[in-house]
Amino acid sequence: MAEKNERVVLAKRPEGMPALDCFRIEETAMPEPSDGRVLIRTIHISLDPYLRGRMTGPQPYVSGYELDAPMDSDVTGQVLASKDPAFAEGDHVMGFLPWQRYTVAKGKWLRRINLAVAPLSAHIGVLGMPGQTAYVGLLDFGRPKEGESVFVSAAASTVGSLVGQIAKLKGCHVAGSAGSDEKVAFCLDECGYDACFNYKTVERLDKAVKAACPNGVDVYFENVGGPMLDAVLKNINQNARIPLCGMISQYNLVRQEGVHNLIAVLGQRATIKGFIVEDHEDRREAFFNDVSRWIKEGKVKYREHVAEGLENLPQAFIDMLKGTYLGKMVVRLAPESI
Ligand SMILES: NC(=O)c1ccc[n+]([C@@H]2O[C@H](COP(=O)([O-])OP(=O)(O)OC[C@H]3O[C@@H](n4cnc5c(N)ncnc54)[C@H](OP(=O)(O)O)[C@@H]3O)[C@@H](O)[C@H]2O)c1
Repeated sequence: MAEKNERVVLAKRPEGMPALDCFRIEETAMPEPSDGRVLIRTIHISLDPYLRGRMTGPQPYVSGYELDAPMDSDVTGQVLASKDPAFAEGDHVMGFLPWQRYTVAKGKWLRRINLAVAPLSAHIGVLGMPGQTAYVGLLDFGRPKEGESVFVSAAASTVGSLVGQIAKLKGCHVAGSAGSDEKVAFCLDECGYDACFNYKTVERLDKAVKAACPNGVDVYFENVGGPMLDAVLKNINQNARIPLCGMISQYNLVRQEGVHNLIAVLGQRATIKGFIVEDHEDRREAFFNDVSRWIKEGKVKYREHVAEGLENLPQAFIDMLKGTYLGKMVVRLAPESI
């Protein structure tokens, strides 16, 4: 075992897009497990858009990061020593843990991972919180019916790409928007979208949505907000459902943009439903069983972008927010097995 333990702390609250100096890597003591706890070597750290809000302070649905304290998120790791009979040395686990090379955690905070289902990192991505968000948001709040049109913004993102593929499995016409030609190609060629456009290069967003969904939009899976929301509102059908999953285009703005076409919700008797995945733990088993089966059957594809090393986490976090890379952003600290 390496002797040095290191962690990432919040050094400064960002204004706008976080900069590298918002993060600090510092040495910390090597922890020892006491009764009921296990020592974990961290393998992957999940970087997710909602963590940006936590850097500002407490959010209505999640605690804020404290200044000069370790940051945390979903993490995978391997058990190095256990004082909880439910875990043995060598077990692969995941949990909501600090961004730290070695961590001690209560066994009851951890979930054991079965690597026969999917590779370790998938359990914090397509088979983890973002995957469950896509499943719950689309099926429970979008309620797509066969033959309907579903539009997904951030269509190539971790959540968006799974939403699009589930909507295809449900027999819908599926279209979306993404921020690079590589992401558009991923949506069309691998995820089976019927239409997808690069929102950074089209002339008019509302016309691009219309061309992608010529029969109008029955379900808009909202990931980004801002001008895209306005463009889709212009194209919604009667009784459209809009699961409001996220608004990433607003997360780094000091002042949020307004919505101009909200009146369409009235005229079209549409429903906008905000939701937070952690309120829907009762759906975890169904989600996990369905999505792991679809992955095995080759019906669901997913991509990851792996940044190597704790020292590269701050840049990876900024890249995640900017959408620099295709695929779920994961930071790998160590090989997957000892
Ligand atoms: N409600 C919940 O419980 C819940 C849970 C998880 C996630 N979410 C939300 O779901 C959304 C997707 O999350 P994720 O985990 O799938 O993210 P992700 O895989 O990290 O991808 C985020 C993507 O957002 C896009 N983006 C960034 N800035 C943008 C901007 N200004 N305008 C438009 N798109 C922008 C980028 O893709 P492009 O290159 O295409 O722009 C980026 O790759 C986020 O809004 C997130 O907050 C909600």
